[in-house]
Amino acid sequence: MNEPEDCAYIELNDIWKIYKNEDDVIHSLSRINCSFGKCSFNIIVGPSGCGKSTLIRILGLIEKPSLGKLLINCENTSDQPQKIRNSIIRNEIGMVFQSSNLIQTLNAIDNLTLPMLSSDNKKAKELLEKVGFNDYDKFPNEMSLEEEQRVCIARAMVNNHSIILLDEPTGALHSKEAYEIMKLLQDLNNFEGLTMILTTNNKKLSQFDCNMFEMTDGTLLKE
Ligand SMILES: Nc1ncnc2c1ncn2[C@@H]1O[C@H](COP(=O)(O)OP(=O)(O)OP(=O)(O)O)[C@@H](O)[C@H]1O
Ligand SMILES: [Mg+2]
Repeated sequence: MNEPEDCAYIELNDIWKIYKNEDDVIHSLSRINCSFGKCSFNIIVGPSGCGKSTLIRILGLIEKPSLGKLLINCENTSDQPQKIRNSIIRNEIGMVFQSSNLIQTLNAIDNLTLPMLSSDNKKAKELLEKVGFNDYDKFPNEMSLEEEQRVCIARAMVNNHSIILLDEPTGALHSKEAYEIMKLLQDLNNFEGLTMILTTNNKKLSQFDCNMFEMTDGTLLKE
């Protein structure tokens, strides 16, 4: 059902995520209320175990919240059947993880064309150029970690996704490489109009012009 039209592009309303093990109940996310505007650049900072990856999985529609609503474009995705959620994933959401999950037996171009709705080598090259990677024929085991992340970011854009979710994209990188990746993400936000939400445990990344959120024990506060 459509929500009132005054909602933000992405809105989390009273989101909880509770995992139950045999003898334990874990509140991974507790009453999260926040919103992310279209074309905004958002950084979520928090220590290990505070719930960053859980939040990214919920935003990426990989998991449903235990309670609460996630609205995207004013639609309550939490109520939607998986078939519709899958089409939102396909059309709107690109994801990047801490360690590259490129397919080792494919070169950079083929890693990009594989998830495309219709395979397009020219577009793959253009995207790789956009992220500053020109060695199209390189295989993942010939790339540096920073290069792999660049290719993963390009891959997250192949289907013209407007939302890019990145779970600790600089976590495996040295500080100079991390800075270069952050600069790239900021440029893509500025010039391509992508809505970016990324997590990190590195407070120093707050030097970038962004909406900053602090995550502690499953709660989220905008700074
Ligand atoms: N599938 C699951 N089943 C049970 N508990 C889970 C599950 N996923 C996450 N948790 C728990 O939820 C809490 C938050 O985990 P999460 O992985 O989201 O934190 P994080 O901030 O991403 O940590 P890190 O920085 O180490 O990646 C942790 O206590 C974790 O053990
Ligand atoms: Mg994590």
